[in-house]
Amino acid sequence: MGGVEAGEHTGLREGKRWAAIKPVLVSLAGRERPLAALTAPLDVGALVGGEGAWEVELGFGKGRFLLAQALARPEVRYLGVELAVYYYRLLARRASRQGADNLLVVRGDALYVLSALLPAGFADAVHVYFPDPWPKSRHHKRRLFEPETIDLVLGLLKPGASLWFATDFVEYGELVWGILASYPGLELRRIEGPWPGGPRTNYEAKFVAEGRPILRLEARRSPEAALLHPAGQAGVLVGPRSWQRG
Ligand SMILES: C[S@@+](CC[C@H](N)C(=O)[O-])C[C@H]1O[C@@H](n2cnc3c(N)ncnc32)[C@H](O)[C@@H]1O
Repeated sequence: MGGVEAGEHTGLREGKRWAAIKPVLVSLAGRERPLAALTAPLDVGALVGGEGAWEVELGFGKGRFLLAQALARPEVRYLGVELAVYYYRLLARRASRQGADNLLVVRGDALYVLSALLPAGFADAVHVYFPDPWPKSRHHKRRLFEPETIDLVLGLLKPGASLWFATDFVEYGELVWGILASYPGLELRRIEGPWPGGPRTNYEAKFVAEGRPILRLEARRSPEAALLHPAGQAGVLVGPRSWQRG
């Protein structure tokens, strides 16, 4: 492989260079910057100024929810993360055209963006709607809601802030519910029926029209919550001190 170009990130993951996959890109009001032009963790407050609360959506797809929210609530700052370049560009273009200067759009794998780029505890709300359920067990590691990845998602939340989640894979939703229910310091509630304002995203609008059952939930991080899922903790091993002497 040749030299690293601007915007390519050289971190290692699953034995592949990220540079070989796709660069992380960040767009605000039509101005796109490769990650290499920014510092990590992202100084989100410098990118979108003001005092407004922050809301984050992971895997925003066509970006219907984020754009509608950003335009309706200009005092709030929004950040979206999406893996698909096509959707990233679609939302970045629409946000720029419609003057949503309070919307920061990031292209990258949410797990990578969460672990390497975003500051902890800055979000007043995190939204995850209809995430890919990755049903095959060898793909479970890609899920956002595994005991060993959930801390990354919940770690975005300020104390007292909420995760909002919906899925049409009800079985997967129950698994997510179980993982969240065993998390110390979360207040969990099922949302029965539709959201007050109707479907939030494109997938939700489609599934509601088809009459599919949808599991919706809110998980509120209580101020005293310890952020580390017990099963995630159990998956981390630390060698004895004697190993470190040498
Ligand atoms: C089923 S679609 C749902 C899109 C949107 N949330 C909705 O409800 O209409 C799942 C989206 O998550 C994105 N996605 C999948 N894995 C991702 C990852 N690791 N990081 C960020 N986005 C991801 C996909 O590209 C896709 O746009």
